[in-house]
Amino acid sequence: MKLNANILLLLATRAVASNAGSGNSSYAVQKPPLTTKWTYTAGTNPWPEYPRPQLERSEWKNLNGIWRYESASDLAAANNPPFNSTLSHEVLVPSCLESALSGIQGNNTLYSWFSTSFTVPSEWDDNVLLNFGAIDYEATVFVNGHNASFHRGGYFQFTVDVTKYLTSGENELLVFVHDPTDSGDYVIPIGKQTLNPSHIFYTPCSGIWQSVWIESAPANHVVQLDLAADMHGVVNTTVYTSQKNAEKVEVAIIDAKSGKSVASHQGLSNEPFHFTVSSPKLWSPDSPTLYNVTVTFGKDKIQSYTGFRTVSKGTVDGVVRPLLNGEFIFWFGTLDQGYWPDGLYTPPNREAMVYDIQTLKKLGFNMLRKHIKVETALFYRACDELGLMVIQDMPALRPLQSILPNDAQQQEFVRQLEVLVNQLKSYPSIVTWVIYNEGWGQLIEGYPEFALTDLVKQLDPTRLVDSTTGWYDHGAGDFSDNHHYANPQCGTPFYSISSSPFDPKRIGFQGEFGGIGNNVSLEHLWNNQAAINSINQTYEIDETIDSWNYRSHYLLSELKDQIELFSCSGGVWTQTTDVEGEVNGLLTYDRRVLRTDEKQWKADIQALYDAATARQNSTVSARSLGI
Ligand SMILES: *[C@@H]1O[C@H](CO)[C@@H](O)[C@H](O)[C@H]1NC(C)=O
Ligand SMILES: *[C@@H]1O[C@H](CO)[C@@H](O)[C@H](O)[C@H]1NC(C)=O
Ligand SMILES: *[C@@H]1O[C@H](CO)[C@@H](O)[C@H](O)[C@H]1NC(C)=O
Ligand SMILES: *[C@@H]1O[C@H](CO)[C@@H](O)[C@H](O)[C@H]1NC(C)=O
Ligand SMILES: *[C@@H]1O[C@H](CO)[C@@H](O)[C@H](O)[C@H]1NC(C)=O
Ligand SMILES: *[C@@H]1O[C@H](CO)[C@@H](O)[C@H](O)[C@H]1NC(C)=O
Ligand SMILES: *[C@@H]1O[C@H](CO)[C@@H](O)[C@H](O)[C@H]1NC(C)=O
Ligand SMILES: *[C@@H]1O[C@H](CO)[C@@H](O)[C@H](O)[C@H]1NC(C)=O
Ligand SMILES: *[C@@H]1O[C@H](CO)[C@@H](O)[C@H](O)[C@H]1NC(C)=O
Repeated sequence: MKLNANILLLLATRAVASNAGSGNSSYAVQKPPLTTKWTYTAGTNPWPEYPRPQLERSEWKNLNGIWRYESASDLAAANNPPFNSTLSHEVLVPSCLESALSGIQGNNTLYSWFSTSFTVPSEWDDNVLLNFGAIDYEATVFVNGHNASFHRGGYFQFTVDVTKYLTSGENELLVFVHDPTDSGDYVIPIGKQTLNPSHIFYTPCSGIWQSVWIESAPANHVVQLDLAADMHGVVNTTVYTSQKNAEKVEVAIIDAKSGKSVASHQGLSNEPFHFTVSSPKLWSPDSPTLYNVTVTFGKDKIQSYTGFRTVSKGTVDGVVRPLLNGEFIFWFGTLDQGYWPDGLYTPPNREAMVYDIQTLKKLGFNMLRKHIKVETALFYRACDELGLMVIQDMPALRPLQSILPNDAQQQEFVRQLEVLVNQLKSYPSIVTWVIYNEGWGQLIEGYPEFALTDLVKQLDPTRLVDSTTGWYDHGAGDFSDNHHYANPQCGTPFYSISSSPFDPKRIGFQGEFGGIGNNVSLEHLWNNQAAINSINQTYEIDETIDSWNYRSHYLLSELKDQIELFSCSGGVWTQTTDVEGEVNGLLTYDRRVLRTDEKQWKADIQALYDAATARQNSTVSARSLGI
């Protein structure tokens, strides 16, 4: 590397601009306000698993690990990339720059450079695809000095065919990231992130927060695989390819245990085709059977998987119900934020991520509501495998009605909603899409949720749509979804301020309730004074774990009454874990304390399912009330 005076000056300027202090730094986990048992074991080769199990290729190379990072001053910096220079700080990829695991623990990291280098294995003789799981929020990707791609949207994967930019030795990969979060008048999908965290709004995540990898694929290769398999054994698939032409493609369904092919079919790429598997074992939370899938498109060979199940709605004994494989089961889950004290949006590792899901399964939950965040593909794979239905929220724009999107911002929100559905629509565990949470970013004029519901249904006719979970319900979508704390009002003939009366033409649902808090000692709290000061904004504080369990029992019993007496079809308990200034989780934020009395909760949750089953068969007193 040749350093001239200009480059030296540039380096010095950047070092000053850096949030992580001036000068060089090598990687070390920073001290987070709270640790988990995985904080110091996550290591510097994070997320070694193949990151995209629904479109998996055998020849791949993980680029996760220690990269270099430096903050940049503004958007214009992207026009002057620091090619061939050593950025000042080491950083862990994937991670959020604001997290302790990143090694940076920055604040206000709006503009950033990331760099690494890679070699392509000599045995690869096809094109090279560079894949990013997610970068928050905008990324410009430079390979060996070439602007290879620009991508916008903090929650979505993207792939760049970088073959034409590669050299035989080391290749330089440089990424410019711009993440405004809620600065200035930006109105973009951010979920719970804010530059000024307080109570229910949390530390933001900037940068490359999901896995990065390269893989070998033929020039004309599979770019997206849509797979839907239903309770009648019909597999409906579209295999999209990079050259968008109609060519022969073969899809085979494989028994995941025996490895035997149970059906295979030849169709054409880039158009839907379907075929039938006779008497497949169905997917459900109690029996989450998955089948392996192989796709052969010329030289491109893909491993994938699917589960056979049908999501629909129907009237059972006079009440509109969500149906899984034609049957009504009560949907009971938690509000699941997917936040970590050490990694923020990025769990410290797969084991930690799966621990949350297993905790829910153990208590008897059959669902979670993924709250205004999108997870890694491996998270949905785990829900598919372990048997947990997922209600997937679209990440919200700015909260409340303070700053609503203008036309261009609304268009971009809609574009990203489409990307969300297209990216996630092949996971069997996802049963419902949510468009708006509690009116956040929901334009009041013209009720946009009606057209957006139609759009989502057109992109994915195989699932239900919860158009507005909480607050501004004008009758769109499949659910009449109430939020109420602490006690539920689920499909009931009574309601409170900011909720709408139950609409019996749609599914009666409790999109949020519970939320009761229980303070813990400092060692389990997010040790940030502003967060601690906000704890008393919790709807209800129960002073002991016993009283918290007593209150939980009471609230779950109320929900059970509403199943028996009224039209309640499912509920979402707030929430899986504490987050920053919120202390209302089943688990504390560090996952070290499980507040639930396991025996009591299991019995209370089972009682919900039993009440729903019994309700389908018997005539109860509420019917005589004319409900
Ligand atoms: C940082 O370290 C690299 C190599 O380790 C060196 O080339 C560079 O000059 C250093 N930069 C500063 C600002 O110290
Ligand atoms: C990089 O290329 C994209 C088009 O792919 C373009 O929109 C963007 O402005 C370019 N960025 C820079 C810094 O040249
Ligand atoms: C981070 O930056 C924001 C915006 O500049 C500021 O309001 C906030 O106080 C900072 N937080 C910390 C922990 O430094
Ligand atoms: C980086 O350095 C290499 C080796 O000296 C050189 O071939 C390449 O052109 C440089 N890249 C840029 C973008 O200047
Ligand atoms: C298969 O999926 C496509 C795309 O969603 C849809 O248009 C088509 O009707 C589906 N076919 C069957 C048989 O379900
Ligand atoms: C099915 O796929 C899973 C996940 O890739 C793999 O672990 C398993 O070995 C596969 N089963 C067979 C029989 O190939
Ligand atoms: C909450 O606690 C803070 C200090 O921890 C105190 O200043 C504030 O008055 C309390 N608010 C309420 C509503 O009790
Ligand atoms: C919660 O506990 C922390 C740590 O003991 C304490 O500082 C804080 O005041 C408590 N807050 C409330 C509302 O009880
Ligand atoms: C409800 O009816 C179904 C079918 O009619 C039956 O299989 C089931 O055992 C009944 N459940 C209860 C709780 O009575």
